[in-house]
This record gives sequence, structure tokens and C-alpha cells, in this order.
Amino acid sequence: MTQLSNSLAAADIATSLHPYTDARALEENGPIIIARGEGIHVWDTAGNKYIEGLAGLWSVAVGFGEKRLADAAYKQMNLLPYYHIFAAKAHEPSIRLAEKLVEISPEPLTRVFYTNSGSEANDTVVKLVWYMNNALGRPAKKKFLARTKGYHGITIASGSLTGLPNNHRDFDLPAIPVVHLTCPHFYRFGLEGETEAEFTARLLAELEAVIEREGADTIAAFIGEPLMGAGGVMVPPEGYWPGVEAICRKHDILMVSDEVINGFGRTGERFGCETYGFTPDIMTVSKQITSSYMPLAAVLFTEEIYNAIADNSHKIGTFGHGYTASGHPVAAAVALENIAILEERDLMNAANRLGPRLQAGLRQYADHPLVGEVRGAGLIAGIELVADKATKAPFTPIGRVGAQAAVFGHAEGLIFRAVGDTLALCPPLIVTEADIDQIVEKMGRALDRTAEWLAAQG
Ligand SMILES: Cc1ncc(COP(=O)(O)O)c(C=O)c1O
Repeated sequence: MTQLSNSLAAADIATSLHPYTDARALEENGPIIIARGEGIHVWDTAGNKYIEGLAGLWSVAVGFGEKRLADAAYKQMNLLPYYHIFAAKAHEPSIRLAEKLVEISPEPLTRVFYTNSGSEANDTVVKLVWYMNNALGRPAKKKFLARTKGYHGITIASGSLTGLPNNHRDFDLPAIPVVHLTCPHFYRFGLEGETEAEFTARLLAELEAVIEREGADTIAAFIGEPLMGAGGVMVPPEGYWPGVEAICRKHDILMVSDEVINGFGRTGERFGCETYGFTPDIMTVSKQITSSYMPLAAVLFTEEIYNAIADNSHKIGTFGHGYTASGHPVAAAVALENIAILEERDLMNAANRLGPRLQAGLRQYADHPLVGEVRGAGLIAGIELVADKATKAPFTPIGRVGAQAAVFGHAEGLIFRAVGDTLALCPPLIVTEADIDQIVEKMGRALDRTAEWLAAQG
């Protein structure tokens, strides 16, 4: 390590608490400090070059070092670096972006509310839906249906919707009324001898049973990621989403599509709900909206929801919700330029062009002794490592082998994320065929090194 990175690492250890990190382990091992990025690559302060196989956090669609985004931010900074949109104020970037989002989103979504993060967007969904149902005189209709292993963020309400133990444990969550349904992941949750179609039917029967048990008049909405990302890249079984939608429609339960990872072309269509065949009443987007060059998220919803909320705001005299940086002009200007780049370079179709190469390339490791399942769609993939291929038995403790595989990935010059023992890939949408081949090759070497490491441990 250089002098600089040594002192930076020491300062980091002395002053920071990192998200999603074992704080005591970080004190021992220090951080990897990323210094710069260009295209699909980043470099750390020690000069190591990595392919960013997760596009940062599933988000840097146009890659690093995109000058057009820096220029858009600089221009807006000079013109109007900040203004809010409270109390009937407005500015052009947030207006133009709302127009653009409505234009590219599924048809019934006509309205936009801005937040700074995906978590806040999903918190806003909860509040919008509660506010609406109170306004409509149905105050009991407040529960949310979500899924185990779903990820919707970490604030009090969105963290409650998230279905992962570490986001609840010792945080006193869930703190809102939510029922978590079975995770729609056939490999892990399908029963012995069950077909995929039978698995789907069982999940739909569970949904019906939960609605029956709780009462449809107490359930406000169903929220899900079309393809589940942060919980371990899980592709829904055939027929799942159209089935969920049909049941929700029958019981007047709103459909919320969390597109924070899926949105803007990750699975092939512009939005994951289009790939998996359902039409949401509400959709949350973030991450690839600005390629994460600026923090920004948005909630899109129907005119019907808007009207109920608008009427109530008129009755009360205001809509008492909003963030200082809602629709921030610099973030909105960057989002507009980012979406322009996605459109000009046809990047929302990249998953259709290049996804098959990534998926097929990784599936050659299906026979690897450590690999239980290779899964994914478009330009998002997961490789689940197991202790026993035949029984699908996981390693214990879960996550130790995955974390070690990620270390070997780094050593091979590939950053991916270990979600438990699933190795997640979600490269920038600008990847080329040659980049994909390199990602696949480096992943293969990381798998082999992990197997050697395990064997050496006996
Ligand atoms: C599907 C989904 N929803 C919500 C979030 C939360 O977004 P944020 O981290 O911006 O709060 C994430 C973050 O990864 C996500 O993947």
C-alpha cells in the first residue's frame, strides 16, 4: 500500500462506520479504497485494476468516467445548483425528468414523486398508500405483502418490507404491518419432486390463503422486485407474476414494482415488470436512473392514486410529505443526460444483445463442484455455491465461502458481490462481448481458487 492509502485507511478505520460491513473485521483488515474509475474498470489506491462486475451497487449503467454526466452536473450547478419543489415551486430539470420518466414507463403510470434513495422511495410508497386509503375512507386497508429475501431498503418502513434477517435483527423491525410470503426461488424453495409449474401454483395458493386469513380489506399492496436482486439474484418461476397480479386485482390490492435494480434495461425490457408480464400501479426507480452519479430515486404511480392524494391534499391544505432534495436540479439534470445516453446508445437493449453471452458463459460452471445453481436474466446473474450439489446443502456458516470467493475475485481483478454464498454479477450496461468473456474467465478462476482453498482446509 502507498503512504497515501495507509493514512487514508487509518483515518477510515478511526472515523467511519461502514454500511454492510463487519466493523471489527474492517478494523483488522482495513478498507479497499477505490480511487478512480473509467468505463467498466475501477482502480484502488494501491494501483490494482478491477472490472466492476456489479456496476458499483447494481447501478453504474453507463460506466465510470462518463464526461457527459459530469458536464451536465457542472452546467446545472452554474445555472441553478439547488432549488426545492415544495410549496408550488418548480424547476425545469425536475419537470423534464418527470415527463421523461412518464414517457418511458408502463402506460398507467402518469405521476412522479422524487426522493433521494430507493429506501426513501419505498417508504414514500407506504405513506402514499396509507394516505390514500385513509382519504378513501378505508383506514383498515394498510398491510403490505412482501417476500422473504426481497430487498426494498433499510429505512423503518422499507426495511420492514425487506425480507432479510440481518436487516431486521436487533433493529426492532418489521415496524409496519407486513406479511412476508415465500421467496419465489424454485431451486431453493421448490419441494422435492415439485415441478416449476407446481411451485408457482403453490405460491399463488399461499397468496390466496394469506389474503383469506388477513382479510382483503386489511391489505393495501403487494410489493416485489420483478427479478429479486440484493437477496441473491432470483428469477421468478414461470407464470408467477401474472398469477400474483390476477389475485391482487381480484382483491383490490395494489401492485408495487420495485424497479430499483431492474429498471432501465437490466433484464432486457426497460422495466422488469415488462419482462415478467405485469402492470404495476406503483413503481419505484433509482440507481441506473443517474447511473448513481447523483443520488436520486422516484416513485411513479397512476392517475387514480394521484387523484385520491390530490383531493386529500386539497382538503387538508397541503401534502405533508417531501424531502429537501426531492427532485434536486443537479441530480435531475444528470438523470436526464444519463437517460439520453441510455437511449442514444440503445443501452436499455444491452441485456438483450449481451445477456445471452453472459448467461451462457456462466452456465458452463454449472458442473463445477462448488456450484449449486447458475441463474439470472439479461445482464444480472448469480452463482450459488453449495456444500453438496446433490442435496443442495448450503455451507455453514452461510457466507464464509462466498466471502472468500469474493476475495479471490478481487485477486483476479473482478469485483462481484457475495450475497451469502451467491456470487452476484450485474456489470455496467456498456460491457462489450470481450468484457463479458473476461468476466466469465475471471469468475471461473475465482471458483477454482475457492475450491482449492476449501480442499486445503480439509
Ligand atoms: C430493489 C431495491 N429496492 C430498494 C433499494 C434501496 O435503495 P437505497 O440503497 O438507495 O436506499 C435497493 C438497494 O439496493 C434495491 O436493490
